[in-house]
Amino acid sequence: MRPSWSAMQEIGRDIGERWDFMEIFSGCSRLSKEVAKFGGKCGPAVDCLPSAELRLDLSTPSTRALLWQLVKESRVRWIHLGFPCTFFINLGRCTALRTHTQWEELRETALGHMEFSIHLLREQETEGRDGSMEQPRNAGSWRCRGWTELENSSFQKYIYDSCAFGLCDEYGRPLQKPGALGSNRDLSTMERQCCCGVPHGRVEGSVQQGPEKGRRRSEVAGQYTLAFCQAFAREILRSRI
Ligand SMILES: C[S@@+](CC[C@H](N)C(=O)[O-])C[C@H]1O[C@@H](n2cnc3c(N)ncnc32)[C@H](O)[C@@H]1O
Ligand SMILES: [Zn+2]
Repeated sequence: MRPSWSAMQEIGRDIGERWDFMEIFSGCSRLSKEVAKFGGKCGPAVDCLPSAELRLDLSTPSTRALLWQLVKESRVRWIHLGFPCTFFINLGRCTALRTHTQWEELRETALGHMEFSIHLLREQETEGRDGSMEQPRNAGSWRCRGWTELENSSFQKYIYDSCAFGLCDEYGRPLQKPGALGSNRDLSTMERQCCCGVPHGRVEGSVQQGPEKGRRRSEVAGQYTLAFCQAFAREILRSRI
């Protein structure tokens, strides 16, 4: 029976479409673009940025409900969530100048994003589908109960250095930025470690030149590199078999 209301229709997609991949908290959406280039059928890349394919503020219950329904209707085979990590990294806690109230708000929003992400991953697992999340290697999110519960089922953490995937600053200096992916599929090919042999730049302050000038280095370094997306897209599509 056709549902009287369809989330797919609500966002202008056909009822009955089945997606291989969907990226949530997608930022520059490079990962979705690479999956599509390799022949994967992608759902819209979701972020609150004006440039997002599907612009949703995922801190509200109604948008979360819409996204939940989209995942359910599309039976999307793999979802990836790179939820915001500022609250979960010590660097942010120490250096950012915020009042107690601002921290409380940030905490509530951050925990909300994390819990929603974990909830989606658990649902994927229950439905026999795949999923992944990405956070800095030392982020507190990896120590939260939601993740440890996933780890006690069939999820595993895979670690890498971002410089091994070509991350560098505006002067071409490699940025080591230790990252981690958590997934219920084998992502061991993503576990590339630094072999730079030259000094690294620092993920601090703001970009001094080039197209990203003025933006915070930490924000720019959060965008997945092309090499990272290509390697990850291969794994995402390999799991279709
Ligand atoms: C760590 S960045 C992800 C960057 C991404 N991996 C990339 O390759 O560009 C986190 C993303 O979460 C998005 N975000 C933050 N708050 C959000 C909200 N309330 N709803 C939807 N997206 C949000 C930000 O705009 C940002 O793009
Ligand atoms: Zn390196």
